[in-house]
Amino acid sequence: MTSAALPPSSVTVRVPAKVNLELLVGAPRGDGYHPLSTIFHAVNLFDEVTVMSAPEWGLAVSGPQSFGVPVDGTNLAARAAQKLAEVAGIDEAVHLTIRKDIPVAGGMAGGSADAAATLVACDVLWGTGLSRPELEEIAAGLGSDVPFLLGGGTAMGSGRGERLAPVLARGSYHWVFALSEAGLSTPAVYAECDRLRGDRAVPDPSPSAEMMTALRSGDARALGAALSNDLQAAAISLMPALGDVLDAGLEFGALGGIVSGSGPTVAFLAESNEAALDLAVSLTASGAVQDVRRATGPAHGAHVISAPRPG
Ligand code: C5P
Repeated sequence: MTSAALPPSSVTVRVPAKVNLELLVGAPRGDGYHPLSTIFHAVNLFDEVTVMSAPEWGLAVSGPQSFGVPVDGTNLAARAAQKLAEVAGIDEAVHLTIRKDIPVAGGMAGGSADAAATLVACDVLWGTGLSRPELEEIAAGLGSDVPFLLGGGTAMGSGRGERLAPVLARGSYHWVFALSEAGLSTPAVYAECDRLRGDRAVPDPSPSAEMMTALRSGDARALGAALSNDLQAAAISLMPALGDVLDAGLEFGALGGIVSGSGPTVAFLAESNEAALDLAVSLTASGAVQDVRRATGPAHGAHVISAPRPG
């Protein structure tokens, strides 16, 4: 057997974080999920997942954002590996190592990203030969954001977020993310959104013309004005300091600011790389924000960065 035919001894996949440029939320469905119309946008804040064949299932988490990540079978990445093994009929355990740089419980889909990365990594390690639609179906079963993280870029999501369609999106964008020390629970934020809406009739969500036009033009200023998130008021209601963070970023010249997904990370769009650097410095110096990250988008979805073969 040539070494090219041997399975890799390990596979490492890099996967981006996401921000929702538009997140429109309908009234809860019978299954408790909310129908969404969203524009996902992947940014180059990355986690890396390495999988290796092992006698027993195992998981280790490292990196700047590893605090609070579960290392047992409840971790979504571990569930992704087990689900793929089940579907592909693989009777092999793997050890997963997750290097986290995406904020945990931050509304940037870090857990979903790790699950998407694990699907891609185990697929290569095991040579399962599953098609992309088959992987997407497994991804959708794991979580609403997981299918998007397989492909990345900028895409429209509907259903509970798992149904993807391409959008015409030009340009590359400079972001500053204001991180929070505490996380927010996604179900709690959706529940707060329902509570704040009370008995008000909620229209079925559909993409706004303003967002579609901004994406087509590739104009950062238009995109900044079009950013919107129906979960923002709920996230601020649960964590009022987020309102001050948003005000600070806009005061320091951001083209637009938005709570990312269910929060509490706040995303600011900047005009240029330099403007992003200035904004990051101002936010940190103001004391309104404990930690900031700069990133650009769109970024590629989960992709293999190393798969060494023995010999
Ligand atoms: O799909 P995922 O597991 O990421 O969703 C986490 C939680 O967020 C769900 O259990 C649900 O409470 C809430 N959610 C929702 N509607 C969506 C997506 C998520 O209510 N479209």
